[in-house]
Amino acid sequence: MATGIVDRYGVMGYPVSHSRSPVIHRLFALQTNQNLQYELLQVAPAQLENAVLQFGRTGGKGLNITVPHKSEIVRLVSDMSDRASNAGAVNTLVFRGNEIYGDNTDGVGLMRDLQANIGVQLKDANILILGAGGATRGIVSPLLEAGPEMIVIANRSISKARALAEHFSASGPVVSCRFEDVHSLPIYDLIINATSAGIKGETPPYPTDAIHPHTVCYDLSYGLTPTPFASWAAQNGAARSVMGWGMLVEQAAESFYIWRGVRPETKPVLKQLTVNIA
Ligand code: ATR
Repeated sequence: MATGIVDRYGVMGYPVSHSRSPVIHRLFALQTNQNLQYELLQVAPAQLENAVLQFGRTGGKGLNITVPHKSEIVRLVSDMSDRASNAGAVNTLVFRGNEIYGDNTDGVGLMRDLQANIGVQLKDANILILGAGGATRGIVSPLLEAGPEMIVIANRSISKARALAEHFSASGPVVSCRFEDVHSLPIYDLIINATSAGIKGETPPYPTDAIHPHTVCYDLSYGLTPTPFASWAAQNGAARSVMGWGMLVEQAAESFYIWRGVRPETKPVLKQLTVNIA
């Protein structure tokens, strides 16, 4: 019997008004006949703990956590998945009675976009990651699980790249260098931009030598017009230059599956979101 109570979900971030998550989750709910509501929740860092606890106390079922809270939220969860623990970040919360469970769907979202949507072969691939912040930390483990030949983490500040490479080198072949030390060999199959430079409107001296005619360039950032990295990649002869819209939709689908036990189809939603993109 219908109770009239609608399950509540939402995304917390700061700022969060630009988030496409409400649209994506509403499309998933429509597609799968799930009765739920999904809210946009702007929460400043100082209010994060109160806001999350309050959301759970008032019957909220689950949250997505986005910038800048993904690392900070780790200390508020009662338990978390291995993939969240490896990433040192949580983007999905599930409220279970008094317990808050944390997961991270960003890595699997990227992997599904690269492998299922774009068709990148990651086994034995040479992968260059630009940037050594939280976004990079979240994607190295899932990329290593796919069995690449090598992952090179290049960063403006070498110390951060070195620390990440050391952290992950126990799990697979990961090395670090500065942007200016990236050369044309090995031939990179995939270059991922995980810097936050584009979001800030900055274009760092990305290593042009790294692009080979068969290289796929992938920006974790996305926009309605090409990001600076996406333009740079296209101008410098990449085989494909892709923005992170697919990762956005795929990570949302995984969160939706965790909450509802139903896996939505991502392709029509991705198509609908990107229909107006130049
Ligand atoms: P995120 O969680 O999005 O990864 P972050 O942890 O602040 O954010 O990391 C931002 C990354 O973008 C870092 O690798 C940063 O380089 P530094 O470690 O040298 O600061 C990189 N980044 C940001 N702006 C940049 C710019 N203008 N040029 C080069 N790298 C930049």
